[in-house]
Amino acid sequence: MSTSLTAVNPIRTSEIVQIRPESPTVKTFIISDRLCTKAKPGQFLMLWIPGIDEIPLSIMDTSNGLVSVSVKAVGDATRHLHNMEAGATIGVRGPFGNSFTESRGKVLLISGGTGTAPLLFLAKQLSAKTERLSFVEGAKTKDELLFTRELRGVCSEKNIITTTNDGTYGLQCLVTEPLGKLLDKEKFDMIYTCGPEVMVKKVFELTEQRKLPLEASLERLMRCGIGLCGSCMIGKYRVCRDGPVFNAAQLREVKDELGISKIGFDGSRIPV
Ligand SMILES: Cc1cc2nc3c(=O)[nH]c(=O)nc-3n(C[C@H](O)[C@H](O)[C@H](O)COP(=O)(O)OP(=O)(O)OC[C@H]3O[C@@H](n4cnc5c(N)ncnc54)[C@H](O)[C@@H]3O)c2cc1C
Ligand code: FES
Repeated sequence: MSTSLTAVNPIRTSEIVQIRPESPTVKTFIISDRLCTKAKPGQFLMLWIPGIDEIPLSIMDTSNGLVSVSVKAVGDATRHLHNMEAGATIGVRGPFGNSFTESRGKVLLISGGTGTAPLLFLAKQLSAKTERLSFVEGAKTKDELLFTRELRGVCSEKNIITTTNDGTYGLQCLVTEPLGKLLDKEKFDMIYTCGPEVMVKKVFELTEQRKLPLEASLERLMRCGIGLCGSCMIGKYRVCRDGPVFNAAQLREVKDELGISKIGFDGSRIPV
């Protein structure tokens, strides 16, 4: 994994240029910020919602001199953001963290929920360079599936598997269910994943059983985003500075915490 371009990276006042609804709970915010347009897939930014909070968000796109993030409304900050309009002022720090390694050959990406956003960014960059790009995407229901049209622009239809928990689109199962069979049937040179940590843990177990290379993007509670406060620790790693992308060897080191526990806002250990 490449290291971050985090040097001195102060907060900048910025503007929401455009807002695009993606699903009933997810919107994409297109923001003007010159520094973040240099981001690589896997990196994140810290978005300050004035008067509310500052939150970490994966960078989803950096085209046309603008940066995009896709945000699910889950709590106070994200709901406030969803209620903002184009032209509103926000603050931006970043890009922070490392990025996914660029691979050639046969590549598989597995995403759940908003984890599709950074993997779409990665898929766009890899599509011209890889021999075959395959994608497995899962969501609870059809309405929550993200970027299905965009994914068809970078992967051929026959290499995309879609799952929904309720069977309203694609296979009715968890995203990890078709994975074992796929990994046994086809050869992959690199596997990338991003999504809910329980899903990431399952992907890790399946790739470990088959001794396959994996890079996973992890989420932890983040405050500073630059390796100072310790709120994002997993094992010996600070997810904001050493990650958010971790390879199989690093995931092995933190497997007792992966998908199990994390540090909460009050500093105590809570279930993931
Ligand atoms: C590196 C990284 C990249 C992320 N990328 C995205 C993304 O692209 N799109 C997206 O929708 N979400 C992303 N998240 C999660 C996003 O940061 C949280 O959903 C957001 O901070 C929740 O804030 P809130 O005030 O709305 O919710 P809260 O009311 O604070 O909490 C709601 C839920 O979000 C979790 N959460 C709260 N604060 C944080 C935090 N600072 N970091 C991580 N989780 C938190 C809580 O555990 C809880 O489950 C990312 C998180 C990290 C660490
Ligand atoms: S968020 Fe402060 S050390 Fe990672």
